[in-house]
Amino acid sequence: MTVIVQPTIAEAARVAAQKIAQAMRKKPNLVLGLATGSTPLRLYEELIRLHKETGLDFSRVTTFNLDEYLGLPPDHPASYRRFMQDNFFSKINLNPNHTFVPDGLTQDITRHCREYEALIKSCGGIDIQVLGIGSDGHIGFNEPTSSLASRTRDKALAEQTRRDNARFFASLDEVPHGCITMGIGTILESRKCLLLAFGQNKARVVAEAVEGPVTSMIPASALQFHADASFIVDEPAAANLKLRAYYDQAFANELLGS
Ligand code: GLP
Repeated sequence: MTVIVQPTIAEAARVAAQKIAQAMRKKPNLVLGLATGSTPLRLYEELIRLHKETGLDFSRVTTFNLDEYLGLPPDHPASYRRFMQDNFFSKINLNPNHTFVPDGLTQDITRHCREYEALIKSCGGIDIQVLGIGSDGHIGFNEPTSSLASRTRDKALAEQTRRDNARFFASLDEVPHGCITMGIGTILESRKCLLLAFGQNKARVVAEAVEGPVTSMIPASALQFHADASFIVDEPAAANLKLRAYYDQAFANELLGS
């Protein structure tokens, strides 16, 4: 596990974007796993800037989103397909046929989830998975007690998650109770994981995920089993980390080597 602490959200987003851009230059047909929520927005802004100003080319990239609300049509203002469309897909040169988000209106959830997994495999697996973290430690929508071996499936949302995400809806009542999400097992199969976390309200859960025991009560702690997982956080989100000096030293060494 690598922890990179940056002074601001903008700088953290830049570090994450550079890692993705570097991978895209090496492998133009990169398979990118994407996340929603407010955290990755700055990363998407930075990738859009790199596309516009340096010609970063997404034409051969394929994307898979982590999750979607059950019951929301793709054009619903709070659906994750719409979020991705408005904040990222429409602003770069991705082939729309190469962007995949679980279908919240599927009539056959089991089959759709199986096909989503098969599609990821048929594209050669996810090269880099971008992740945020919920205030209860969830990744994707894998709520506490999710199996650490879980695959893409439907899942009930925790009340805390519904409350946290109510800001994207007209009222709490409108927040769906269910979702489709890649499983923790699915996420762990991606070649590289970049988890972003910003703000003081993520400090407790970041420390638990990085330095606490691996437990399904903090689903992000499963990333301790991943051979190439990085947490990229701002100062407030790093506030509870015990081994801060070590992380800073290791990142300084990484910069020296690059
Ligand atoms: C949602 C998403 C997660 C995301 C989380 C945190 O629950 N399903 O993928 O990490 O929100 O959201 P935010 O980044 O807005 O704090």
